[in-house]
Amino acid sequence: MQVFIAADAAEAADKAADIVENVVRSRPRPRLGMATGSTMVGVYQSLVDRYQAGGLSFAETSIYLLDEYVGLDCDHPQAFRNVIRAGLADLVDLRDDALFGPDGSSPDLEAEAQRYEQLVTEACIDIQLLGIGGNGHIAFNEPGSSFEGLSSVVTLSEKTRRDNARFFASIDDVPRQAISQGIGTILRARAILLVALGAHKARPICDALIGPVSIESPASAIRLHPDVSVVLDAGAASLLPAARSES
Ligand code: GLP
Repeated sequence: MQVFIAADAAEAADKAADIVENVVRSRPRPRLGMATGSTMVGVYQSLVDRYQAGGLSFAETSIYLLDEYVGLDCDHPQAFRNVIRAGLADLVDLRDDALFGPDGSSPDLEAEAQRYEQLVTEACIDIQLLGIGGNGHIAFNEPGSSFEGLSSVVTLSEKTRRDNARFFASIDDVPRQAISQGIGTILRARAILLVALGAHKARPICDALIGPVSIESPASAIRLHPDVSVVLDAGAASLLPAARSES
């Protein structure tokens, strides 16, 4: 595992974008697993900047979402498919048919989760981006989730709903369920890139990186993977006693 500690969020976003750019440039048909959430906004903007500067093309790239809320209208701005469109996909030369995600409005959610699991498995993700929840979740795999779990319909914890309420008019509007890649699905990616920003992520990062590898810290599962990069800002790294600093 390589841990990069950036001075601030902007430097962290650029470092994470460097890692993604390297994958996009080195694979003939890059397949990116993308997370949503505020952590990723700067990372995606940095990728958009590189596209607009003329140096980076996503024409051969496919994007696979990590998760999707259940029950939002397909045009809801907080549906993750729309978040990734607005922040990245619509701003670069990604093909219209190259963005994949679970359908959270499917009438048969379990079948949809299985369909998506198969799609992601066949795609073989080159790099999976991950944020981390305040309770250590990755995607929407809450504490207690099996490390072997596959894509499924999951129930959001109250903490996660409270954390994500800032994106909605009120907490009552935050969905209670999602379709999420499982931790087992995530661990099958060729490489993993975890990004965390801010002192409010220091505790879950410390638990994930130096605590026990345990289902109580879903993000600790990344330590079972052979190719992991972690990009932190100083706040998120603040509880790590001996993290290496590279840039
Ligand atoms: C959501 C997403 C996760 C994301 C997490 C952190 O719950 N399902 O994929 O990593 O939030 O979000 P943020 O970056 O906004 O803190």
